Amino acid sequence: MSPWPYPRWIAHRGAGKLAPENTLAAFRLGAGHGYRCFECDVKLAADEVPFLLHDDTLDRTTPAQGTAGDRSWSELSRLDAGAWHSRTYAGEPLPTLGAIASFVRHNRFMLNIEIKPTPGHEARTGEVVARHVQRLWAGEAQPLLSSFRPEALAAAQATAPELPRALLLDSLWPNWIEFARRLDCVAVITNHRLMDAELCRQVHEAGWRALCYTVNDAADAERLLALQVDGLITDAVDRFSPAG
Ligand code: G3P
Ligand code: MG
Repeated sequence: MSPWPYPRWIAHRGAGKLAPENTLAAFRLGAGHGYRCFECDVKLAADEVPFLLHDDTLDRTTPAQGTAGDRSWSELSRLDAGAWHSRTYAGEPLPTLGAIASFVRHNRFMLNIEIKPTPGHEARTGEVVARHVQRLWAGEAQPLLSSFRPEALAAAQATAPELPRALLLDSLWPNWIEFARRLDCVAVITNHRLMDAELCRQVHEAGWRALCYTVNDAADAERLLALQVDGLITDAVDRFSPAG
């Protein structure tokens, strides 16, 4: 297996549910809890600016409605992505990938960028995100690119083969091993419920790291650490010490 620069504990969407997910405020809060590695979801605005948002639509986490990827960055940048969470965060904006890169790089943190394409834009999102990552990180402390969508990872691979990639799995669908091989992945990130001794062994034997999401329960964390998984993505940044 190749060297693994990422800490074992990874803060999900910045700081899980303690601050508005996928905002700079969430990253700051996660960092305040000692986290040094963060996961976030990235998609494209209509004018192809990569920015952080989990859902396809704006409905849950902003006052706007409809598909986020249909709007230009200039429209998206004016939305309040914090008030839905709590008054403390009212006015918190959606961040660009560039803004998050600046925070992460200045602090020497590590990042796991989940490529979360608007449906129908898988390949283009993988390509554009990879190109931005090349420019923003310029070869140092490279982010891990992950996705549930093999088409997005394949486009990232074609654009920037040197960037590390991980296949996300919510189920063990047929041929996932073949896909991870063809995508030249360095890791597989599974729903924690899928991970057991046999799968962990299979992943490690293939030469990949084994990571799990979203681990919020102490008993689950203990079970996974005993299996020697390489990374745990958690919302519970206030309960799990990232040193553990
Ligand atoms: O990247 C791991 C995890 O974030 C995948 O699930 O839905 O929280 O993006 P989701
Ligand atoms: Mg995610």
